[in-house]
Amino acid sequence: MNGIKLFLAPMAGAADSAMRYMCRIHGSDGCTTEMVSAAAVWYKDKKTFVLAETDGGEEDCAVQIFGHEPEMIANAVTVLYGRAKVKPRAFDINMGCPVKKVVSNGDGSALMRDPVLAGKIVEAAVKVSPVPVTVKMRAGWDRQHKNCDELCRVVQESGASAVCIHGRTREDMYLPGTMDIESIAKAKAAVSIPIIANGDITDGPSARRMLELTDADALMIGRAALGDPFVFERIRAELEGRPYAEPMAEEKLDAAKEHLMLLVKLKGERTGVCEGRKHMSWYTKGMPGSASLRKKMNTAVSAAEMINILDMIKEDTKS
Ligand SMILES: Cc1cc2nc3c(=O)[nH]c(=O)nc-3n(C[C@H](O)[C@H](O)[C@H](O)COP(=O)(O)O)c2cc1C
Repeated sequence: MNGIKLFLAPMAGAADSAMRYMCRIHGSDGCTTEMVSAAAVWYKDKKTFVLAETDGGEEDCAVQIFGHEPEMIANAVTVLYGRAKVKPRAFDINMGCPVKKVVSNGDGSALMRDPVLAGKIVEAAVKVSPVPVTVKMRAGWDRQHKNCDELCRVVQESGASAVCIHGRTREDMYLPGTMDIESIAKAKAAVSIPIIANGDITDGPSARRMLELTDADALMIGRAALGDPFVFERIRAELEGRPYAEPMAEEKLDAAKEHLMLLVKLKGERTGVCEGRKHMSWYTKGMPGSASLRKKMNTAVSAAEMINILDMIKEDTKS
């Protein structure tokens, strides 16, 4: 299982360019921006343009777009690619988001109920995109309608270059125990374009199982990378049968600091520290004495305060 690509999953509110950088230096082979609204691009929303930025060493990053109107999706591809700071390896169309606000507009996983429209969207994007167009979907809308194999065929015919499948339905949301690897295997057998398998991959055994049961071309990892960018090098070593030296607490805390400082640089101190709280809490989960200090993190307002707390946790891990 050498040479299998391990991608970081798109995660709105978490996998921004700071997290993408941390995962890249620890072995992820590619990533995707947080999802970008085609409608917001249509209305020239400035914050949306920032979400799509992939300049500065992000050649491995795809820009993900959500929407349900082929014309708006094509516009988003053209407008975004026309911006100097948006140079993605691919445009990815979101057909998997389960959030009510998104699906009630007909976006995200709602598209799994309308394969004809899904095909038109991909065709419209492919027509104008200078880079490959990919799709991210779920197993289906609900357990009675697991149609990712059919949808993969449709989007392949419409020109998609690859598909990532999260093996849950929209109905399943993120419920434990609902991952359906068989659906991913069926979709892989139905098409010739690469299939990237996603869902509940956390370590070597789960990655190996996913590959063996689906014959997928690559894997995508989401939640397991929150607070643990090392997951990529760990899984790769395990897939290749190499020993892996787990980072010491000190190394993990240094990574947490680096992540925090990247957030501050990217978003300014106030927002960077505020958004950094959840990341710092993920990095330090389970470390001795960190529970009470994590509470302090939730009220920290400056980077210095946050670094101080991380240093106290470091001291505690030594004792
Ligand atoms: C906080 C969060 C935000 C997410 N945002 C997106 C998104 O913007 N686009 C998308 O396609 N999937 C999104 N997802 C789904 C993930 O990409 C992935 O498919 C899902 O978490 C399953 O993979 P995992 O078990 O490895 O986490 C998000 C998931 C989480 C937990």
